[in-house]
Amino acid sequence: MSLFITFEGGEGSGKSTQTRVLHQRLSSKGIPVLLTYEPGGTPLGQQIRRWLKGTGDIDPQAELLLFTASRAQLVAAVIRPSLKNGTVVICDRFYHSTIAYQGYGRGFSLELIQATNNFATGGLKPDLIVLLDLPMEYRLSRKTPGDRFEREETAFHQRVRNGYLKMANEDPERWLLIDGSLRKKEIERIIWERIEQLLTSGGFCSV
Ligand code: TMP
Repeated sequence: MSLFITFEGGEGSGKSTQTRVLHQRLSSKGIPVLLTYEPGGTPLGQQIRRWLKGTGDIDPQAELLLFTASRAQLVAAVIRPSLKNGTVVICDRFYHSTIAYQGYGRGFSLELIQATNNFATGGLKPDLIVLLDLPMEYRLSRKTPGDRFEREETAFHQRVRNGYLKMANEDPERWLLIDGSLRKKEIERIIWERIEQLLTSGGFCSV
């Protein structure tokens, strides 16, 4: 059995904390599990992450291709091999981030994004996408400007959020939409309930 779970959401939504909690919970039950993240997760991805998370000028086309390159390496070197040997893989962001940020946020056509995503992943899809959705007021009140994305205007983040909500509402079987302003423990409980269902029903993903 292999299970591929991804986490999505805006900056400061608490998803990285939740990926760690889930990782810890699964490993404490003796389930083989790997936690990775995007952009990054490999030596090449780390280099790319440094560029992307900086404040230097990167053309939007180049930005899209850098995220895609990091993903291609992560899928080939880490995610597919782990899923093949039966490890549960948790990934902090995956291709839905590109749809939300470069597609809905930057305005690249969704067909183009889909093609580059498919190219990078070879068609690999998560079994479950956990979306931690934060209302805009909440996001703005808790973040100070930082990297290139955190500096983007409110309208950009609104488009990203709407894009995520659209994807989640269109495919509720695969997406778990959670109000990110709930208490941390409550979010943990909701996620675990869904993971347990997947584990007992033998959640599979085709690698
Ligand atoms: P974070 O994961 O540390 O929050 O930082 C990653 C940033 O990069 C975040 O602002 C979202 C953005 N991003 C994209 O724009 N496209 C992508 O495909 C990915 C994976 C992340």
